[in-house]
Amino acid sequence: MHEQIKKISLAVMEKLKDADSLNLINDIRVKFLGKNGEVTALFKNLKSCPPDQRPKIGQLINDLRNQVELAIKEHENKVAEREKNKKLAQETLDITLSKKTRKVGALHPLNQVIEEISQIFIGLGFAVKDGPEIELDYYNFEALNIPADHPSRDEQDTFYINDNILLRTQTSAVQVRIMEKEAPPLRIICPGKVYRPDDDASHSPIFHQIEGLVIDKNITLCDLKALLDNFARSYFSSQTKTRLRPSYFPFTEPSVEVDLSCAICNGKGCSLCKGTGWIELLGAGIVNPRVLEYAGIDSKEYSGLAFGMGVERAAMIKYGIPDIRLFYENDYRFLKQYR
Ligand code: PHE
Repeated sequence: MHEQIKKISLAVMEKLKDADSLNLINDIRVKFLGKNGEVTALFKNLKSCPPDQRPKIGQLINDLRNQVELAIKEHENKVAEREKNKKLAQETLDITLSKKTRKVGALHPLNQVIEEISQIFIGLGFAVKDGPEIELDYYNFEALNIPADHPSRDEQDTFYINDNILLRTQTSAVQVRIMEKEAPPLRIICPGKVYRPDDDASHSPIFHQIEGLVIDKNITLCDLKALLDNFARSYFSSQTKTRLRPSYFPFTEPSVEVDLSCAICNGKGCSLCKGTGWIELLGAGIVNPRVLEYAGIDSKEYSGLAFGMGVERAAMIKYGIPDIRLFYENDYRFLKQYR
C-alpha cells in the first residue's frame, strides 16, 4: 500500500509537468480522483487491509487525495492564468499606432481678402452684387462709353467668344446691369473674376477685381476721396493716406488713379514704392453722365462715383507678395501662411 501511494503521488507530479492545457489537466483529475480513478481505487482496496492498519492507511490515502487535489488545483490555476494572459495579448489594442490626423482646410488667401474687403464696405452700407463672367460686349464696353473702334479697347486686350460675347475684362461690366435693374440711390460692390490675355509677375490671365459704385444726388470727388480714405485706413493701416492722380477711363469723368502711401517707408521712398513713397492701388472716378443715360438714370438728377480695385494687387501690397502667380500655384507652403 505504501509503495502504491508513493507511486501514484509521483505519477501525478510527472503527468502534471507535461499538462499544458486545462483539458489535459482535467483528464488527470479524472484519471486519479474520478469515480474510477486510481486514488479512488485505493479507498476501495482499503477493505483488503488488516483491520488494525486501516485507520492509519486510510489517513495516508486521505492525505494523498488532498495532496493530489491541491497539486492539480495549483497547476490548473497556473495554466489558466497563462491562457488568460495569452488571450489578452492577442486581443491587445496597439495604441502606439499613429492616428489619422484631420487636416483642417482654410479659405484661399484671395477669398479671405475678398471677404475682408467686402466686410469693410458692407459696414459702410454697401450691398454685394454679382454679374456674369461670360459677358455681352454691350455691358463690358458699349454701355461703359467704349464704342467699337474706341482706342481703349486695345488697352484691355480681350478674350472674345464671338463678336458679341466675351470674357469680361473688368467688373465695371456689372455697373450698367445693376443700374438697369435697381433704382438709385445705389451703393454696391461687385467682387469677381476678370480675364485679360496678360501673363507675367504682376499680371495673370484670370484675376480678381472689386468694383464699387455709388449713385445718389450730389456725389462728388470729395465723396470718392473720403470713401477710399476710410477704406484704406480700415484695410491697410490707420496711418495709410491716399492720393488722387488725374487719369482717364471712358466711363468716368473726371477719372483718377488712387495711390496709397507706402507702408514700408511711410512715404520716404523705398524699393517697394520705387522711391516715390506711393503705391498705385486702383482706378476710379465720377461716373460719366453718358453711362448713367445708357442705364436709364437721369444724369441731371443723379451723379455717381465708381472704383475698380485689383484684389491680388491689394493683397500683394498688404502682405508684400512679390509675384501674382503665387496665388494660383496652390503651393501649400504659400497657402498655409494665410490660414
Ligand atoms: N474698370 C477699370 C479697370 O479695370 C477700373 C475702374 C473702375 C476705373 C471703375 C474707374 C471706375 O482698370
